[in-house]
Amino acid sequence: MSGTRASNDLDEGLEIMTSTSPATGTGLDAATLERAIADALATVRRNVDAFGSRYPDDTTTDGRYALRPADRGIPLGGNRGWTTTFWTGLRWLAWELSGEEAFRAAAAADTADFARRVREAEDLDTHDLGFLYSLTAVAAWRLEQDADARDAAVLAAEHLMRRFLEPAGIIQAWGDLQDPAQRGRTIIDSLMNMPLLTWAGEQTGEERYPDAVRRHTAQLREHILRADDSTFHTFYWDAETGEALRGGTEQGAADESCWARGQAWGVYGFAMNYRVTGDERLLEAARRCADYFVAHLPADRVPFWDLIYTDGADAPRDSSSGAIAVNGLLVLAEVETDPARAAWAVETAHAILASLIEHYTPERPEDSDALLLHGVYDLPKDVGVDEGNLWGDYFYLEALMRVARPNWRAYW
Ligand code: GLY
Repeated sequence: MSGTRASNDLDEGLEIMTSTSPATGTGLDAATLERAIADALATVRRNVDAFGSRYPDDTTTDGRYALRPADRGIPLGGNRGWTTTFWTGLRWLAWELSGEEAFRAAAAADTADFARRVREAEDLDTHDLGFLYSLTAVAAWRLEQDADARDAAVLAAEHLMRRFLEPAGIIQAWGDLQDPAQRGRTIIDSLMNMPLLTWAGEQTGEERYPDAVRRHTAQLREHILRADDSTFHTFYWDAETGEALRGGTEQGAADESCWARGQAWGVYGFAMNYRVTGDERLLEAARRCADYFVAHLPADRVPFWDLIYTDGADAPRDSSSGAIAVNGLLVLAEVETDPARAAWAVETAHAILASLIEHYTPERPEDSDALLLHGVYDLPKDVGVDEGNLWGDYFYLEALMRVARPNWRAYW
């Protein structure tokens, strides 16, 4: 891991609101925050220049993003898979933080490509349509009232609804709906795909969207969250009868272990979906995910890739889980009904973010294409281990945005 970074020049004109001074004792003061944002913007700026309208791979290799490989007729650097959205989301965030036109233009051009992707029905067999269109087309609608982006996002939501399985009342996560290996399976990450449906419900007035959100999140709360407050990564339902069958993992250490990123998705996803459904059981689920996650952090507050590992383990960390959890804890604090719990969530979020800034970012922005180092994509398959990744970068900058500008309107 990198040590404490050298101080860097601050970008002129960077607007940081410090009205909510981070909690004392966490090491997250206004100067640290300002420097972290300036460094992050320097990297995004360099990547905009280097990549233009082409997309990088999911993770870095030795600290550098390569172009996304060609696959199934989609060319090198093309828009496929679930992570290109974070590249665009970073550009929207960078524009909001800096006001620089180059970021806005790059994000808008990407968004037009996302609109093309959904209209041409290219690589849409996934529940990740929520990730893919929230940080691109919904963001463009919220920020610029881009009507074409709005229509594309509604179309993406319509595609996502085709994955809603009756009578189980869940959205199938991966693959073709007829694929026996994937049929009836969902994953905890899916909580983050619900905001696209919530937004589509608001836009269209169609009740089937919020209804799907309520039913899917209730099923996850009931079955993917375990009695000890840890979570399964994935869970199967019988697609014909709707019966809940069994939990399992895909990216965790074992079926019964607790994959760190899944638990972080749980904190963020249950909190966000509580906000829109008002279902108190989702608030309780978010609290339980948060308590378990925080209780299983090592001394430096950044999780190992699976929460079965603790201090002293010879296992990689997943910085991206830490960044996701920071955002989740900050949203949990916003929706909390218990002031003491809300204060704890903010203080914990700031402590994790301070550690990410100090120990998990490059010494100098030019040392890596990633904003955040030391992530894990899929350790069992040896993909992206101890590397930067696109979602880690996105959630890190989203976390900086949330702390710097407490009134920021999220894209979700
Ligand atoms: N949503 C896929 C992952 O977190 O790896």
